Amino acid sequence: MQISKGEAKAQVAGSELYSVSISIAPVAQPKWKALAKDCVGNIDSVVELLHGKLAKSVMDRVCRQGEGLFPAPKEIKLSCSCPDWADKCKHVAAALYGVGARLDEQPELLFALRGVDQNDLIASAATGMAVPRRAVAKGKILAADNAHPPLCLRVAAGRAGVAGYLQELEAQGIRAAAVPGVETAVTVEAPLAVEHLPGFAAGRVSVQDSSAQLAALLLAPQPGERILDACAAPGGKTGALLEAAGGPIELTALDCDARRLQRVEENLRRLGRTAHLVHADLRAEPAWWDGRPFDAILLDAACSGTGVIRRHPDIKLLRRESDIGALASRQYEMLGACWRLLRPGGRLWYATCSVLPAENGAVIERFLAAEPGAGLPDVPEAAAHRPPLQACRCGWQILPGPKAAGDGFYYACLRKFQDQGARGNARAG
Ligand SMILES: C[S@@+](CC[C@H](N)C(=O)[O-])C[C@H]1O[C@@H](n2cnc3c(N)ncnc32)[C@H](O)[C@@H]1O
Repeated sequence: MQISKGEAKAQVAGSELYSVSISIAPVAQPKWKALAKDCVGNIDSVVELLHGKLAKSVMDRVCRQGEGLFPAPKEIKLSCSCPDWADKCKHVAAALYGVGARLDEQPELLFALRGVDQNDLIASAATGMAVPRRAVAKGKILAADNAHPPLCLRVAAGRAGVAGYLQELEAQGIRAAAVPGVETAVTVEAPLAVEHLPGFAAGRVSVQDSSAQLAALLLAPQPGERILDACAAPGGKTGALLEAAGGPIELTALDCDARRLQRVEENLRRLGRTAHLVHADLRAEPAWWDGRPFDAILLDAACSGTGVIRRHPDIKLLRRESDIGALASRQYEMLGACWRLLRPGGRLWYATCSVLPAENGAVIERFLAAEPGAGLPDVPEAAAHRPPLQACRCGWQILPGPKAAGDGFYYACLRKFQDQGARGNARAG
């Protein structure tokens, strides 16, 4: 059985194999527009939205007799290749039963049968919801969440950088491309085992999504700086920070999870790099700290992961809408904890792999309102001319989408002003 736009085709076994075709007229546009309009504000939860599911109230409206999506008998045309075909044969009856069974499993196929795009409904229902509406309207986030993530590599500086590495890959018949705006990133067309990547064992290349690679490029560590990677494990960004510095830096990599911190050590060993590893809860009294403030801090905060659903589809099942408030409170607390460790004049980059403003711009706004010495710098040079970054509330959002190479991410930069009164906010966006 194949169900596509406006038709269902089936092969049914009788005394021979017969072809059954069921065609269904597309729903009239005024009727579809009215239906979409009635769905405004009726979605049950952000999590349902991210699942691509429709709320009960939306489903009730969709199923309303005469005004919903189910076709009237005159809108359905049936045919069968069997010799005794007249009006309805048993093969057609079997195919109709099959369509019903498929709709039980995949109710969204009804939209395809009626020639309409369910994302129109999701966009209407999402009005006022926390996920950025422009992207939802086109269903881009939902489509990207179901796509296979590309294999993305970070190429360490040295030799000929990305250009040289692309040549090495080509010589081995591995098709790959650079990622515009992320000068360390290469996307490999067909995923392959890392052992087959030239220079992987020697630490010349690491697996890291291009949006995640931006953390080190944005923070732009300078040789001699004292830097804290505040939520470091498993160490993807720790390695990237060390590579991006272009000279020795004093890097502390902290995490509260001892097992994951072990992974930081293993990852750095492959890269031939070192950092001072600290096992601690960022929110506790910093007994590990020698009192010398940091020049720059990366806070890659634990979050809902709604930007990386394509890599961790279990997020769709495990994450609850009620988690978001607790996560945002923890992110805010961690921001405060980092702030105390930053020198006046220093910079703090806040990052999440979330697409929810509650964990992103709202956390930064709350912090700015409470902390007079904190401000947003003028658009930092490091963020200029990077196509994946879209300026948003207090920072930059990367939304996952069919055309976006990278995962969903959020970045914001806070400056600690020397003069606590002189905020001078110049917002990105
Ligand atoms: C998004 S992951 C970090 C990923 C890492 N930066 C990388 O690029 O590989 C968030 C990390 O924050 C750590 N974490 C969560 N709460 C923490 C806390 N209160 N103190 C320290 N680390 C914490 C988690 O153990 C987790 O490893």
